[in-house]
Amino acid sequence: MKKLIEVALPLDAINAASAREKSIRHGHPSTLHLWWSRKPLATTRAALFASMVDDPSEHPEKFPTEELQNKERERLFDIIKEIVIWENSSDERLFKRAHDEIKNSCGEEIPTVFDPFAGGGSIPLEAQRLGLKTIASDLNPVAVMINKAMIEIPAKFKNLPPVNPDAKSFIDDKNNWRGAQGLAADVKYYGEILKERAFKKIG
Ligand SMILES: C[S@@+](CC[C@H](N)C(=O)[O-])C[C@H]1O[C@@H](n2cnc3c(N)ncnc32)[C@H](O)[C@@H]1O
Repeated sequence: MKKLIEVALPLDAINAASAREKSIRHGHPSTLHLWWSRKPLATTRAALFASMVDDPSEHPEKFPTEELQNKERERLFDIIKEIVIWENSSDERLFKRAHDEIKNSCGEEIPTVFDPFAGGGSIPLEAQRLGLKTIASDLNPVAVMINKAMIEIPAKFKNLPPVNPDAKSFIDDKNNWRGAQGLAADVKYYGEILKERAFKKIG
């Protein structure tokens, strides 16, 4: 089955979003840890999506003419143009839409993404954002740690409240801990304790 990436991509939009990423100073994985030849997230997102969705020419029953195939490609390009924008990274509805589009092409058995040279984790991170089952590995234990800290561990605490005693005092039913917010509150709390102890011990 020929995939969209084998036929066409909205390169101008992907390039512009990828170039813009270099100036992002908050929330980008490059601010967690540097890594060599880290792939821009916009490029990775677009490449993963376009590797999973079929090219419309594969469905002549739905798109019998070139004109209809081009129209459908434009529709898929519009999704890519939206998902590559950095500000849309947390838009759950948009990424659900992208995931549904992948499901339309692959059915219930969506292939697992495997990145054996995961490095700074761009590919597994973006695969996870698109709701794809993902396996990552790397020869270098530092890269493995970056991937664990950024992708594997936060997912385990998704939408869970923090456990530290400070946060417990203001948790009630109305507190809606989204994504990794609860885990982040705990990392901040216990990180401060460790920092204080380290200062006491080593100055
Ligand atoms: C160019 S980096 C990957 C960058 C990654 N795609 C990203 O966006 O951050 C290549 C990675 O391959 C890893 N690597 C090199 N040889 C390897 C091997 N034989 N087995 C597993 N990983 C290896 C390196 O440690 C390095 O992290």
